[in-house]
This record gives sequence, structure tokens and C-alpha cells, in this order.
Amino acid sequence: MLNKIGLIGGGNIGGVLLQEIVRRKLAREIGFVDPAPMAGPNDTDAQKAQKAKQTVSGGKALDVLEGLPTVGLDARIVASKDYSALEGAEMIINTAGVPRKPKADGSLPSREELLSINLMVTKFVAEGIKQYAPDAIIISIANPLDAIVYTLMKTLAPNPAKLIGMAGVLDSARYCYFVAEAANVSVENVNAMVLGGHGDDMVPVRSSARIAGIPVEQFVDADTLAKIETRTRKAGGEVVSLLGTGSAFVSPAWSALEMAEAIIYDKRKIMPASVYLDGEYGVNGLFVGVPVILGKNGVEQIIELDLTEDERAAFAKSVAAVRSTCDEVEKMLG
Ligand code: 2OP
Repeated sequence: MLNKIGLIGGGNIGGVLLQEIVRRKLAREIGFVDPAPMAGPNDTDAQKAQKAKQTVSGGKALDVLEGLPTVGLDARIVASKDYSALEGAEMIINTAGVPRKPKADGSLPSREELLSINLMVTKFVAEGIKQYAPDAIIISIANPLDAIVYTLMKTLAPNPAKLIGMAGVLDSARYCYFVAEAANVSVENVNAMVLGGHGDDMVPVRSSARIAGIPVEQFVDADTLAKIETRTRKAGGEVVSLLGTGSAFVSPAWSALEMAEAIIYDKRKIMPASVYLDGEYGVNGLFVGVPVILGKNGVEQIIELDLTEDERAAFAKSVAAVRSTCDEVEKMLG
């Protein structure tokens, strides 16, 4: 158990994280920040006054606190519209930013289309972390994932082992779920990873996918696997299309918690995460999803996988997409 976890963003993912951190007893105190609702330039004085009294993080916190007697748990939650709630947090989970929603014509925006708005949000996030919890281990979930983590690196310059993007656990969970469904076996038997950036070019790694230690091809034919891999790459968008109001929130929150628990309990658990590459996989100065060991110091080790030629080419394509979004970040920050 940590003394304090800071949670930035009181949207759907933040709400699930808040409940789960309490239920799983991961911290004695949770600092929960969301500036919403904020007054807009066209609001009347009455609307401004009303919004000044409201606090999304405060409402979600009170809802959880009032439920504690029914689940027999004690918890402390400091909720605020400002970043002071993060004071002293040893771990920060950042969900701040707008999610994808279907456009008016029904088409889906890419995660990269969220860059300009979420980059602005991330500047405030970075300032808040710098002021109140500069030594915290940061798990970031906001999109476009790899570019937002890159932005946090540029603006905060923490020890790279302490800055980790959550995407690979989620993308791999989706891959494993679809494989388990096709093979008609328990999800507990499936072990498979998705590497690369958290975009439509992500790389499901079939060569290391196993069902109970047995190569996946013994259970699922190549055509079905190819369809599953295409579905995995677009799985986030599939949820966005179905919901119509935003993106997935339960599975991303659970994925971040798998990472948080590996760190909190120093499990040294291997999972894919978006981490700073300094020559590994031939990549320099970018955050990209690769397998890592997570433990008490954050990223304890980066693991280099032997990929097939096709997988290496797909990984290079995905890295190129991440690089191009990070070039946009450089321009915007510049
Ligand atoms: C997803 O893939 C939210 O990016 C997240 O669902």
C-alpha cells in the first residue's frame, strides 16, 4: 500500500480508477484532481456562480466515500479543482484529456486528432505534477498516448524509468480476449502481447502468442488470427462507435491498475508499456510500447524480443507513426 496516489482527471476512466484504488486498498490517501466544471466565455454570471460551486472530482469522491460503510472500507480522498490535491503523491495516474467521440458524420477521429486539445491539457498536468509531486512515478493514459507521454517527458524531464504510458496492457488484453473467444478457452490460458504505438499501426505479436504455453496457431487458424489482429488494432474505435459518447473506460482503468500493482508490490511483472527508448529496438528518444519489467522503481528493465521480419517491419511502421505525432508535439511546444 502506498501513502498516496494522485489521480488526474475525473472522467469515466478516473471514476473507475477511484473506485478500484479504494476497493483494492492501494493507497491510504487519494488526491483526486479535475478542474471541471469550468466557466466558459459565454456563460452568464449565474452560470459562472453555479459552476464555481460545483466540483466533478468532489462529487465523485463524495459518492465513493458515502458508499464505504456498505463495503466495510476506510479511505481518505482529497478532491479538488486544483492540483494541490496531488501534494506528496508517490504515484500519479494521469487520465486528463478529452476522449474520442464519433464525429457528426458518424466517422471516427483518430487518437492523433486529439493532440492539440490534449497537449494543452497536458501542459497544466505537467505543471501540477512538477509543483506538488515531482518525484512520483507517473502512469499516463491520455491520448494520443505515446505523444502525451513524450510531452510529459519534454516538460517534466523526470527519470525516464518513472514515466510510463499505459496502452500495451490494454491492447494485449484485447488481443488475448479475442484469441480466447476464438479458441474457446479461458482468458487465463492466453498470453500474447501487442507492441508499438497506441494507434492503428500497433503490432500484435503472433510469434510469441501462446495458449497454455502452446503456440497459438495450434488452436486458431491463420485467417482467423489475421482477422483478430486487425480487430485488435481497431478495438478502441469499435468501443467508441458502439458507445457514441466517448471511449472505453473500464478496461483502460483495469490495465493501468495492473501496472500500478506491479509497481506498488514490486512484482517485477513483465508487460508491454510505452517507455522511453534509448537505442532499444533501434529507437532513440521516443516512447513506444515494448515489453518491460515493472517493479518498485517503475521500469526495471526493457526486454528486447526476437521479432519475425514481418513483425519488425510492422514495428518500424508503428514507430514512424509515433515519431510523426511527436514531431507535431515539438512544433506545438516550440
Ligand atoms: C482505447 O484504446 C481509450 O485509447 C483508449 O480504448
